[in-house]
Amino acid sequence: MHLSYYLPVKNFLNSHSQNKTTPNVNTVFKTGLFEGKTAIITGGGTGIGLRIAREMAYLGATVILASRKMENLLKGVEMITAEGGKAHAVECNIRQEESIKACVAKTIELTGRIDYLVNNGGGQFPSPAETISSKGWHAVIETNLTGTFFMSQEVFNRQFINTGGVIVNIIANMRNGFPIMVHTGAARAGVENITKTLATEWGKYGVRVNSVAPGIIGSSGLDKYDPAYRDFIYSFAKNNQTTRLGTEAEVSSAVVFLLSPAASFITGVTLAVDAGESLFSPVMPPAENDKNPAFEG
Ligand SMILES: NC(=O)c1ccc[n+]([C@@H]2O[C@H](COP(=O)([O-])OP(=O)(O)OC[C@H]3O[C@@H](n4cnc5c(N)ncnc54)[C@H](OP(=O)(O)O)[C@@H]3O)[C@@H](O)[C@H]2O)c1
Repeated sequence: MHLSYYLPVKNFLNSHSQNKTTPNVNTVFKTGLFEGKTAIITGGGTGIGLRIAREMAYLGATVILASRKMENLLKGVEMITAEGGKAHAVECNIRQEESIKACVAKTIELTGRIDYLVNNGGGQFPSPAETISSKGWHAVIETNLTGTFFMSQEVFNRQFINTGGVIVNIIANMRNGFPIMVHTGAARAGVENITKTLATEWGKYGVRVNSVAPGIIGSSGLDKYDPAYRDFIYSFAKNNQTTRLGTEAEVSSAVVFLLSPAASFITGVTLAVDAGESLFSPVMPPAENDKNPAFEG
């Protein structure tokens, strides 16, 4: 790939990095939408999860940022508090059932309720299928698939079975498989299927369950990959109709919509937030353009 193609994408990413403090959250949703409600957002201390947490807090929810690294969670709480929102940091490793139980119990202790669960926490690493170790495979499956399931189960058993609620799972674009990350493709496909099953089993309790499948998003999560692989990921931006990376805000607004009453007739579906990347066809690849500006938070 030609370097001149990469540069604008990198500049875009740098100017939208997670640590940039925005005085207020840019949202299209109405003030007070989530007033009096509580949301757990796994992985809420960084990247896409933090953006979702900030938007939900801005709209009135008390947000629980839940993940392993307290340092990131506390930074997120500080940012949200500075923006006038209500947030708590709760340590949670979704790979450990005891940790999930403790996180859900702590949330109820702190706020007395849970209305929304956003299963955003996850991770993976690039590797050809033939060299993935058993340990690496299980780590990704336990986080992205098993963790998402047991988090949902615990929130349902402790709260949603009595009051209803809404779950949104963040998955990924794995429509055509997931070359170089077979583990996460398998896990995300599993979550897409779990989404349908839970929507069917729990609908009678007033629970809606949907997923959002982002394309390539210019989030801090991409910084974790080694630079060569990151450049490879950036190059996928040309495969969607905007020919740019997506923004955290573009994922967040889709999540907020699915959580909101505006989506009260929607359950069991996966919403692709990828500007058509999952429809890529070599017959008519997207034409580079600047006609599809980003929605920024
Ligand atoms: N950026 C993209 O292009 C893209 C595209 C499709 C899907 N996604 C998915 O979207 C989600 C957010 O990604 P991001 O780009 O915002 O990356 P990120 O900043 O790396 O976010 C991942 C979050 O998951 C949390 N996490 C990881 N393992 C966990 C565990 N065992 N228990 C609890 N939390 C855990 C991390 O927190 P701790 O380290 O503190 O635990 C971190 O906050 C991820 O699931 C990612 O795979 C991203």
